[in-house]
Amino acid sequence: MSIKTSMNLEEKFRETGGKRPYVQRLFGRIAGVYDLMNRLMSLGLDIYWRKRAARYLALATGETGLDLGTGTADLAITVVRQAKPGTRMIGMDIVPEMLEQGRKKIKRLGLEESIELRTGDAEHIDLPDNSVDGCCHGFIARNLTNLRQGFSEMLRVVRPGGRVVCLEITHPPGKIFRTLFYIYFYKLVPLLGRLVGKAPEEYNYLPNSLTVFPDAPHLKELMEEVGWSDVRYYYLNNGLVAIHVGTKPEQ
Ligand SMILES: C[S@@+](CC[C@H](N)C(=O)[O-])C[C@H]1O[C@@H](n2cnc3c(N)ncnc32)[C@H](O)[C@@H]1O
Repeated sequence: MSIKTSMNLEEKFRETGGKRPYVQRLFGRIAGVYDLMNRLMSLGLDIYWRKRAARYLALATGETGLDLGTGTADLAITVVRQAKPGTRMIGMDIVPEMLEQGRKKIKRLGLEESIELRTGDAEHIDLPDNSVDGCCHGFIARNLTNLRQGFSEMLRVVRPGGRVVCLEITHPPGKIFRTLFYIYFYKLVPLLGRLVGKAPEEYNYLPNSLTVFPDAPHLKELMEEVGWSDVRYYYLNNGLVAIHVGTKPEQ
């Protein structure tokens, strides 16, 4: 079953001067409702998905990880809470409004010593080569202008032997489940966005951004092509999301 998308994304990107400004404006507008909408849209499953992603990152005591497109910092917080004491996270995002929400949450949880949030672009990471022990990201990959460039940058900043963990919505592999998921994602999510989030365009974009995103086997290929090794992926909840894990080869 193919679901007709209600929005021509290329046109929208052109109107705002490209995908990046469009994405920046979009997340700037929904920062205040972002966490609530995540819980509602996923029925709370997003909490469990981030826990699984944090486990695959597997940082050791005293190591530093990078969370790209950290947004309101939920993944960085999950990593720190599951990790051994002394583990640090740097969270980067291009949208100050999302980071502001994250900073408030980190302060409320008393995690200022463990998590530092910075403005920064995942496709041009402002960190030296081999400077972090691992890199993770949740639900940012679909938003990147150049996915290949993003994964190359991650490879550059992670030390040899370190991991990348990508948590992202995917195309479920089973036909029946995929059809049901598409109905939910393309029809109900925009409705929820309109009624609860008061952001109809924004919650139209989110599902439509999946349409052009590679399925899990192709994303694995792309990661291998840019140089990640031992790439594996795991479907969660019948393939609502996939977690890809890769390792930077030892030199
Ligand atoms: C769907 S949100 C995910 C937030 C968070 N990682 C989570 O797990 O909920 C995507 C985030 O990626 C950010 N983003 C998009 N493109 C980016 C880029 N090139 N560099 C850094 N952040 C980016 C957006 O501003 C937004 O905060």
